[in-house]
Amino acid sequence: MINGSFTVAIDGPAAAGKGTIAKAVARYFDFEHLDTGLLYRAVGVKTRQSGDAVSIAQNLDISDLRRDDLRTAAAAEAASQVATNSDVRAALLAFQREFARRAGGAVLDGRDIGTVVCPQAEVKLFVTASPEIRAERRFAELCAQGAKTTFEAVLADVTARDARDQNRATAPMRPADDALLLDTTKLSIDAAVTMAVANIKKAMQGRD
Ligand code: DC
Repeated sequence: MINGSFTVAIDGPAAAGKGTIAKAVARYFDFEHLDTGLLYRAVGVKTRQSGDAVSIAQNLDISDLRRDDLRTAAAAEAASQVATNSDVRAALLAFQREFARRAGGAVLDGRDIGTVVCPQAEVKLFVTASPEIRAERRFAELCAQGAKTTFEAVLADVTARDARDQNRATAPMRPADDALLLDTTKLSIDAAVTMAVANIKKAMQGRD
């Protein structure tokens, strides 16, 4: 158990493995984990149903993150769209920062955690992989959920979402200058977790 706060920021594109790495690291160190994509997914899905994205973001409740319709391809697309709105991003900032500084340690995964949400994070990781590998992983996941789609359609979605997330004016997805890059195109997720854990242990020792 760590004394005080300790933040691990994990960024990267969809299906690179950052969620799996974040969960494994949180379990290893007994830190709390926040998948920040769920915030944007909840705002995106609620906005599609009715209403204004900014006021939905301002009034988001933690129970909204437990909705069972946040993991779909439609929710991912809606999330990526509302995520370009700087007022939506601003409305979600305080919650993420408070979570990051909680006592006992926190892992946040997303697109702008190391650059904008937690530039002071003790550890920053950027997890990436080629678009083809990521589309293969996402395609397998969607097939397992029973979704009817094709590899080509998933690859097109992944590429479009990357372009939107990288090129937006506010908080675009990019590695922080001091982030450790983990490319899971060739590295297994287990090997990436081992590297992440070693990096975090080193940062913890540096604090003692
Ligand atoms: O990680 P995810 O696939 O659940 O994220 C869905 C979308 O939400 C993603 O395409 C961009 C947006 N997002 C963001 O802009 N910033 C974050 N910190 C997390 C997600």
